[in-house]
Amino acid sequence: MSATGMTPPRKLYVKSFGCQMNVYDSQRMADTLSHTGYVPTASPATADLVILNTCNIREKAAEKVYSELGRMRVLRQEAQAQGRDVLVAVAGCVAQAQGEEILRRAPVVDIVVGPQNYHRLPALAAAALRGEAVIDTEFPADDKFDHLGAPSPAATRARGVSAFVTVQEGCDKFCTFCVVPYTRGQESSRRVDAIAREVEHLAEAGVREVTLLGQNVNAYHGAGPDGAAWSLGRLMRRLAEIPGIARLRYSTSHPRDMDATLVAAHGDLPALMPQLHLPVQSGSDRILAAMNRRHTRADYLATIAGLRRARPDMAFTSDFIVGFPGESEEDFRATLSLVDEVDFVGAFTFKYSPRPGTPAAARADQVVENVKAERLARLQRDIERRQARFLASWRGRTLPVLFERHGKLQGQLVGRSPYLHPVHAPAPPTLIGEVALVSVTDIGSNSLFAASPPRPAGTPRASRVAEES
Ligand code: 5AD
Ligand code: SF4
Repeated sequence: MSATGMTPPRKLYVKSFGCQMNVYDSQRMADTLSHTGYVPTASPATADLVILNTCNIREKAAEKVYSELGRMRVLRQEAQAQGRDVLVAVAGCVAQAQGEEILRRAPVVDIVVGPQNYHRLPALAAAALRGEAVIDTEFPADDKFDHLGAPSPAATRARGVSAFVTVQEGCDKFCTFCVVPYTRGQESSRRVDAIAREVEHLAEAGVREVTLLGQNVNAYHGAGPDGAAWSLGRLMRRLAEIPGIARLRYSTSHPRDMDATLVAAHGDLPALMPQLHLPVQSGSDRILAAMNRRHTRADYLATIAGLRRARPDMAFTSDFIVGFPGESEEDFRATLSLVDEVDFVGAFTFKYSPRPGTPAAARADQVVENVKAERLARLQRDIERRQARFLASWRGRTLPVLFERHGKLQGQLVGRSPYLHPVHAPAPPTLIGEVALVSVTDIGSNSLFAASPPRPAGTPRASRVAEES
């Protein structure tokens, strides 16, 4: 059956939790199901298939799935009362980690599918329609990306100006707090030519900015056309040559995998944005060792200094965990002093959450909840202050902005600065998908405003903030 066949198309609703990789996977699930006649719907109430693409990173994230499944039970009853049925699928990392347990706890679920198996969704949905409960959480030997097929032209256009592309999956690092190596499996990288084809396809459909994704994206070592394993820096050089691609980003990186080719790419490629999310987790060497991070505070600082030498307008964000087992007040102060030394412009901050099966969860020296909460509040205050100061520093300066969409006000467009700040400016719709130079006049709570229209950006080199301000 096809979307244009005799039967009306079935409707699909995918809800994504957690990281950007899940957002990308959700889009690719919709792509693959579109080949068997599923079209996206904006409301779960009208869907024939609902997929919850789940996150298992912290306990709170994992538990969210079950409250969502409670809502699915009601939704299904309402659909059945109207004489139709709805299939419910749980995908992503909770599916991988819990498998059959999900069916036991939530009988409303028809399909449980892991992050490596969702290319099989069309077959799984067909089996579920025959009344079979299906679980697919094996780590297959073949690459799901080879089986997904290209997104339809409409799906590609729906990506807009900025799109994600997963280039690497899995993690071999085994930080002692983290479930990812267990749910996403070993590090693996897509081939260079497959990635380049996908980015070319996106660029032809109007995408101007691509964010390369991976659990450990800078551990990328995909096979190049020459048969050699390419580093992320080398891949970036290849992608920067694709006509139409104005901006490149990548997330999330590990400090240990920040190699010389990638640092050099930051210096050489104007398209590679001067903003990097580089999780450090802690500023204390004792805690970094207990976390099995395999880098010290000094290693991290040396990496930051190298990147700043390559590109002086670099700004850094990070992830932090407070209250890791055994963390003392002194360890925590080392984290605060690292924040000061690097001068991060933003961060995701988390209280340590013990995850079943990880080494740190078994430690006897867990930090009590109120100490975790107090440290989190102190760290967040510090980060928020820096975030606001960085934002305010743009008043009166000029930035290259990639315009993405119409703003709320008539005649206004919204775009992004190189540092991902939303920027509002009076501008003609023809600038959507273009980079132009904006003089910042006002500062919002998390965005920048311009009173006058942007100027043309000119040469690609003009997208370098340091040369403009
Ligand atoms: N507890 C708290 N935070 C965690 N993270 C990963 N595992 C845990 C955990 N068990 C955080 C790390 C990581 C981010 C994606 O989530 O900071 O970088
Ligand atoms: Fe988890 Fe560490 Fe791997 Fe990141 S590097 S996914 S924190 S184990």
